[in-house]
Amino acid sequence: MKRVVDLFAGCGGLSLGFQNAGFMLVGAFENWTLAADCYELNFSHPVFRADLTDVTSAVPLIQGLKPDIIIGGPPCQDFSHAGKRIEDKRACLTNCFAEIIEETLPPFFAMENVDRAQKSVTYSAVRAKFKLAGYGLTEMTLDASFCGVPQKRKRFFCVGALRQADSFLTERLARAMSSEETTLRDYFGATLEFEHYYRHPRNYSRRAIFSIDEPAPTIRGMNRPVPPGYPGHPHDAKPLDRSIRAMTSLERALIQTFPANFKWLGKKTGLEQLIGNAVPVKLAEFVARALADHLSQAPSRRKRPF
Ligand SMILES: C[S@@+](CC[C@H](N)C(=O)[O-])C[C@H]1O[C@@H](n2cnc3c(N)ncnc32)[C@H](O)[C@@H]1O
Repeated sequence: MKRVVDLFAGCGGLSLGFQNAGFMLVGAFENWTLAADCYELNFSHPVFRADLTDVTSAVPLIQGLKPDIIIGGPPCQDFSHAGKRIEDKRACLTNCFAEIIEETLPPFFAMENVDRAQKSVTYSAVRAKFKLAGYGLTEMTLDASFCGVPQKRKRFFCVGALRQADSFLTERLARAMSSEETTLRDYFGATLEFEHYYRHPRNYSRRAIFSIDEPAPTIRGMNRPVPPGYPGHPHDAKPLDRSIRAMTSLERALIQTFPANFKWLGKKTGLEQLIGNAVPVKLAEFVARALADHLSQAPSRRKRPF
């Protein structure tokens, strides 16, 4: 079984997807207490409460875990649509991820980020590091709603394989995608208590009322109730009425494709942040299954005949 270490692990969405695809998680690194506590409640391997900007201290800990694959989603506020697109201190965490890869040279790695990251100055520097270290790269933006997740969420993945060709996973990923988006009704069947719901928009030029017959919009790190005097939007799936409410934290976690028995911690702000930060479990699983498939097809080393 291939050994996996998760960096910037959050509550463990990426980890759980890899675990579900048959990989063995052997360690996670996270420096936010709430996230590390929540992760620990749901997994049995060790969580290192380490600051990954201290690459020198992190590398020997990671090497000690002998990972075949290092995965991670460095924080992405610096690149995200919501942010000011200033590539500041947080972009350095993407650099830290790359430095750790350079120093530990695992056979494989998988890095997740917002789709905008691919066009950033930081990513082009990080990419050059991966190439110089000898990695073939599969670089792809995936829309989670075509990967079994009932949510329109676009995320960039860079998967590296030491001494392999670029795009080694592209075809497998493309082949595995569904031809149609997954809607909430497809995913939850008859179990949902509502047909329409409110998702607070960034501003009122965007719609806020959605139907379960479409994928949910991106689950973000905050959740607000319908404000008094919501003006409505011409593209709302239905005009506001008394039946329409914002989703609960648990409903949002289920849309992030966490299982119903996942154990959560934290009050409103922290909890919503944990949920919104996570890689949807089924999106992580989608990438992990493609990698597992690739590994199973790789020619096995010939044994000495005597
Ligand atoms: C985008 S979230 C990761 C989500 C995770 N991949 C998942 O699927 O649940 C990034 C995480 O990096 C953590 N983080 C931020 N700075 C860090 C640092 N210097 N060292 C370790 N972890 C850090 C944050 O607390 C946050 O939980």
